[in-house]
Amino acid sequence: MKKIMLLGSGELGRELTISLKRLGCTVVACDRYENAPAMQVADQALVFDMLDEAQLRAHVQDTDPDFVVPEIEAINTQVLLDLEKTRTIVPSARAVDLTMNRDRIRDRAAEIGLPTAKYTYAESLDELLKSYRDMKLRTVVKPVMSSSGKGQSTVEADDEPSAQAAWHHAVENMRGDRPKVIIEEFIDFDYEITLLTIRQKNGETVFCPVLRHEQVDGDFKLSEQGTFDMGALEAKAQDMARRITDDLQGYGLFGVEFFVRGQEVIFSELSPRPHDTGLLTLYTQNLSEFDLHARAILNLPISDITLLRSGACHTINATQAADSYHIENMDKVEAMPQVEAMHFNKPTAYPNRRLGLVFAPDVATAKLARGKIAITYS
Ligand SMILES: Nc1ncnc2c1ncn2[C@@H]1O[C@H](COP(=O)(O)OP(=O)(O)OP(=O)(O)O)[C@@H](O)[C@H]1O
Ligand SMILES: [Mg+2]
Repeated sequence: MKKIMLLGSGELGRELTISLKRLGCTVVACDRYENAPAMQVADQALVFDMLDEAQLRAHVQDTDPDFVVPEIEAINTQVLLDLEKTRTIVPSARAVDLTMNRDRIRDRAAEIGLPTAKYTYAESLDELLKSYRDMKLRTVVKPVMSSSGKGQSTVEADDEPSAQAAWHHAVENMRGDRPKVIIEEFIDFDYEITLLTIRQKNGETVFCPVLRHEQVDGDFKLSEQGTFDMGALEAKAQDMARRITDDLQGYGLFGVEFFVRGQEVIFSELSPRPHDTGLLTLYTQNLSEFDLHARAILNLPISDITLLRSGACHTINATQAADSYHIENMDKVEAMPQVEAMHFNKPTAYPNRRLGLVFAPDVATAKLARGKIAITYS
């Protein structure tokens, strides 16, 4: 029986734990708070700060796992790089380390020749303003250390007060204590996609059918699969995803994000783990992104990825902070044909925290179902 140490125990970790347990694994779920979603289904739970070097080292040593599987970005990656001499890090310590911050993966993508938005970095307000003046473009400013759109702003060209505000917003919402932002050309894309890409030890790299998604303020709200056709652009994205994941090495599922504008496919960013937009594969595919990640980790063959039905999902987000809350009207949603609600069972709410989602056959039905849900707080 393989022992998995899961670093991060959110909704993605919960589904991965279920997939791993179905294949006979023991899962130790870790996070910084108690009763996190994955802890509710794992064999054992550990609560500690995964950015703390000493704590992470000590817990890995005590747990003695066959595989260390990061599920979030906020992890001390130096520890993972050291541990890789004696343990398997999924997909690889290099992949986890390079993707922890936006700058290193972006630089690597550009180095291997993938098209990206024009970008530069700044480590102070003065540097940001200088780059912003030079670029003369509508830009997106993001902390290099953040996720789910935190600290992100869009700034029009010729609007210095907004550029200044963007710096402060980024610094206030970043992880870590060394301010650094990326200033990126705003891409007026037609749509954006995630390509779930699986690198296998015992076989070739395989892909899930492409997911298209919508983000609000940099945070995922809606994704769909099997409901649209990218034509030849899908193969173009696959080729780019193969190139960057081959460069990162290791085995597992990656979420590779692209913008599509006309006939251009532009690399955006990458997660070396299941992707939030890919929760939809629980509804659409024979093997979900979590089942596929589990198989790649355990070196089990993946003989077939089939879209069993097309679908869309819409997230349910909290609108305020509360020690407890209730998701209302799940019965109304479940009464709709082919619609399913999913509750993440997070213990508390805070503004925009993702608490659940609804699955439906198409975007319009997913929006309709989401509209029936209400959240009460106490
Ligand atoms: N250069 C850009 N041009 C246009 N839109 C952008 C640009 N950069 C980011 N966005 C929008 O913001 C979203 C979030 O950005 P990005 O994926 O870089 O950040 P993130 O915080 O890592 O998000 P997540 O963790 O949810 O993937 C993108 O999916 C896209 O909708
Ligand atoms: Mg993203």
